[in-house]
Amino acid sequence: MPGAIYAEGLVKTFGDVRALDGVDLDVPEGTVLGMLGPNGAGKTTAVRVLTTLLQPDRGKAVVAGIDVLAHPDKVRRSIGLSGQFAAVDEYLTGRENLMMVGQLYQMSGRDAKRRAAELLERFHLGDAADRTAKTYSGGMRRRLDLAAALVVSPPVMFMDEPTTGLDPRNRQGLWDVIQELVAGGTTLLLTTQYLEEADHLAHDICVVDHGKVIARGTSDQLKARTGGERVEVVVHAPEHLTVADEVLRGFGKGEGTVEPHTRKLTIPVTGGAKLLAEVIRELDLRGVEIDDIGLRRPTLDDVFISLTGHAAETADANGNGADAADAGPADGGSVGRQKKRRKAGAPADALDADVTTDKEGVK
Ligand SMILES: Nc1ncnc2c1ncn2[C@@H]1O[C@H](COP(=O)(O)OP(=O)(O)OP(=O)(O)O)[C@@H](O)[C@H]1O
Ligand SMILES: [Mg+2]
Repeated sequence: MPGAIYAEGLVKTFGDVRALDGVDLDVPEGTVLGMLGPNGAGKTTAVRVLTTLLQPDRGKAVVAGIDVLAHPDKVRRSIGLSGQFAAVDEYLTGRENLMMVGQLYQMSGRDAKRRAAELLERFHLGDAADRTAKTYSGGMRRRLDLAAALVVSPPVMFMDEPTTGLDPRNRQGLWDVIQELVAGGTTLLLTTQYLEEADHLAHDICVVDHGKVIARGTSDQLKARTGGERVEVVVHAPEHLTVADEVLRGFGKGEGTVEPHTRKLTIPVTGGAKLLAEVIRELDLRGVEIDDIGLRRPTLDDVFISLTGHAAETADANGNGADAADAGPADGGSVGRQKKRRKAGAPADALDADVTTDKEGVK
């Protein structure tokens, strides 16, 4: 039996661009599918087709058991959508926006008011609740839009890059809300460019690039595809990078990376802690001073690079100018440089770095 979100052979072209090039999806009820892909991969196009906003050229889509092409109206009644660009009424206050959605869904005035108040608190909009939305910052609009998508809990939800432009506190808040929704039985398709986010929230992940699903599986399965663990070393001085690289290659089971800015080297290995001890000894013998060294499992970043040959933030090959600008470090940045930026800190920090360059300003 097909899942709550099902697609078969979806194709959508815009002129020469094949935004969707034969996408198949099957999301079991009550689970989260993380659709992961770089700018221009086709994520928004897929969401628009599945939410009836766009007709595909070819293919089939069934959402909540209803054929999307045959009965778009019925589908619309069974889904919630939070788009990539916040759709709020600028001239209404935050509270009015949410109450309006409740009333559209035939909630009583009292219920709509209660739900609006709950969501305003939840998304830290309490203080701004009675100001018109046009006075909101980009991140506040984003949160209001997400809150609007959550006024009612439809059985199937789509969220297109829900955390883009959110600060760490609000991102965590949204993650909590999503987990509650799913615990309550909602099926969710979530797009993201943030590998950590898919890792954290999704039961299954599909990696999309150039309109095609290029890999799918659980986060663990995808990680397993890149093989063993990594030794990661930060050397004390840049002049030690070359020798350290030589040493690591001697132990490596594949291509490593060198990130000069952070003086960090990474190489896939097998052999665990025993091998780590040998690496340390050898580096010491060769006079390499180490600031930090450790073993880590492959991240989804490694997965993406090994699947596509480029990091997740690289702009699309279609030369989409705005997207390329959004990607920030893609301007002449090598994979190594992008990797460096993403790995520079904890997931939240890595995401933070994106907030300023992301689409928050494009409303
Ligand atoms: N309405 C449109 N007209 C022309 N081209 C379009 C249109 N919508 C999307 N495209 C193109 O289709 C491709 C896929 O776009 P889409 O918006 O689905 O990507 P995405 O994965 O959502 O990217 P992002 O991460 O930047 O949001 C891109 O090359 C884009 O330029
Ligand atoms: Mg998009």
